[in-house]
Amino acid sequence: MTAAGRIAALRDQIRHHETLYYDQDAPAISDAEFDALMRELRALEEARPDLVTPDSPTRRVGGQPVDGFATVEHRAPMLSLDNAYSDGELRAFDERVRKGLGVTDAGVIDYVAELKIDGLSIALTFDDGVLVRGATRGDGEHGEDVTGNVRTIRAIPLRLRQAPPGIFEVRGEIYLPRAVFASVNQEREEAGEPPFANPRNAAAGAVRQLDPRQVAERRLSAWMYQVVGLEDGPTTHAGMLDTLETWGLPIEPHWERLSGIEALVAYCARWQDARHDLGYETDGVVIKVDALAARERLGTTSKFPRWAVAFKFPAQQVTTRLDDIVLQVGRTGAVTPVAVLEPVLLAGSTIGMATLHNADEVARKDIRVGDRVVIEKGGDVIPKVVRVEDPERPDRAGPWQMPATCPSCGGELVRGDGEVVWRCERSSCPARLRRSLEHFASRHAMNIEGLGEAIVDQLVDLGLVTDVADLFALGRETLEELVVAPRDPKSERARPRKLGKVGANLVTEIDRSRQNELWRLIHGLGIRHVGERAAELLARGFGSLDALAAANVNGLQRVPEIGPVVAAAVRKWFDDERNRGLVARLASAGVRTQATDAELAAPAGGSLAGKTFVLTGTLEGLTREQATDAIERLGGKVTGTVSRKTSYVVVGADPGSKADKARQLGVETLDEAALRRLIMTS
Ligand code: IVH
Repeated sequence: MTAAGRIAALRDQIRHHETLYYDQDAPAISDAEFDALMRELRALEEARPDLVTPDSPTRRVGGQPVDGFATVEHRAPMLSLDNAYSDGELRAFDERVRKGLGVTDAGVIDYVAELKIDGLSIALTFDDGVLVRGATRGDGEHGEDVTGNVRTIRAIPLRLRQAPPGIFEVRGEIYLPRAVFASVNQEREEAGEPPFANPRNAAAGAVRQLDPRQVAERRLSAWMYQVVGLEDGPTTHAGMLDTLETWGLPIEPHWERLSGIEALVAYCARWQDARHDLGYETDGVVIKVDALAARERLGTTSKFPRWAVAFKFPAQQVTTRLDDIVLQVGRTGAVTPVAVLEPVLLAGSTIGMATLHNADEVARKDIRVGDRVVIEKGGDVIPKVVRVEDPERPDRAGPWQMPATCPSCGGELVRGDGEVVWRCERSSCPARLRRSLEHFASRHAMNIEGLGEAIVDQLVDLGLVTDVADLFALGRETLEELVVAPRDPKSERARPRKLGKVGANLVTEIDRSRQNELWRLIHGLGIRHVGERAAELLARGFGSLDALAAANVNGLQRVPEIGPVVAAAVRKWFDDERNRGLVARLASAGVRTQATDAELAAPAGGSLAGKTFVLTGTLEGLTREQATDAIERLGGKVTGTVSRKTSYVVVGADPGSKADKARQLGVETLDEAALRRLIMTS
């Protein structure tokens, strides 16, 4: 592959994982793997500066803010930290600091070591000691205003003790205690909802809820570690932490002031094990130069401060037996090997399956059935097989071979030029079809409630559905009579049963989905590389499936943020006759294939176009400006006077006469929670 090709591929991969991590709170790879992709991209871009583009993931600080909350600008950028993965990298950091400060070999630097909390970073603004704003990190420059939610976190004081007057910002981490995480997941499983992969995801999910009452139920907590914009404060970081504590802010108690890098190496080693006894997740140690004046002199790069580094704890590993290698078929036909393991406890959970990535990796690591293998769980996410423990063992099974045919349909597996993934190309493959239907129906696509795995399996097995368009031909009677066996044999409802009313409701849901926004349909089609965001951009850029289908690669790339990989994938998808046939059948089944004017007018993700709002009284969690901003971003208008034409009057505490006027004229009123819900669902 050419350097340009590899760079493009890396950027796409990184963007994909950034979206999963920052926007969907659903990471698919560990931090270390993500960092490795970034390092490779940085190295390639350094070697080929002519290929650097301003939109490369190396050129910015973090992810995108999500829709739904007002966007706010941070007082100063919220930088990220450079990482160190070994004692050697810690010592190299110390070298850089000493060089930057002109300290001789004999001199030692004073540092503060803090545990790195695995949560969600937050910036709290205090005005004369009163909490006035809480914002997520977002892309580092702009975050989401989550004030209402932050106010529900008991560890965060709404008013500081003895704080100086004026405005300053305190930064830290919001997290979910381990015990709460366990009970939240148990509740979710009981309610039939998928559990969160780790406490950070659960915390991030909670902070971004639009209804603060639900946030309060999540029992989040927080540790703070930094202050920005404070004049005449302490001159050291240690002094700052003490001060923040006296003001009533929560400071993680295990920080230490240490002289010289060797004391820090020892601190990191000690906490590598000791951290498991804490009530919250930590994923490393943050080391900061103590003297604030020295920090000033060291300064920052565009992404990281030069005065701090994050030591990442190595991933936890255990050894177990590899019982089998099975194949999994994804909706794009990608067929990937998965390890079936003798169940083993790792980092607090029992692991029975692990990813093997792809056939090349299995061959490279020479992983064979029956081997004892080392498995690893980095920070969070899916465990993976790292290596075979004893590759020299004489009685091993033969090398594993990637089967030539699809385990589901028997179709031939093929592999594209320069690709590592094998694919089943049969669009009729039942396993592919199942995954495509699940994706089509998912909350992030057509949002067809009730079309779960068990029903999908049955529809495919009985041949009632051979592509997504067939869903719209399903009659009420067929679905009511459908007999479905639950997937979990331990479930209370283990007997196969007729769907009955559930089937009838599903018909209504499918029918409702015909009127979905265009981006949902585009995302639901399952075009490679087209996630939710790209689907929104394409829907707005082209306005209809016909126009999208007719666009050439250049036309596609004229849509902001759409790059060559996505453009090529879209073109390829529509070039396939079967896909064009599918689109035609969807249209004739009455599925809307055009965006409405309102969809086109409003920013991606929702629409309040044509709606006018009047605000009255004081809102708890957001300022008037923030509310106006959120409404306008969704295409709505905010005016000052209530008339019959006003769509909604938002009524806060101590409302004025406008609330009475709304009642007189019969204009709908919203309280703050209802406004948030409206913003969220629009
Ligand atoms: S200091 C400019 N201290 O780690 C310095 N960060 O990888 C900013 N984090 O975005 C960060 N615990 O969300 C700092 N004790 C700690 C931390 C910490 C967790 C998070 C924070 C940051 C990320 C950087």
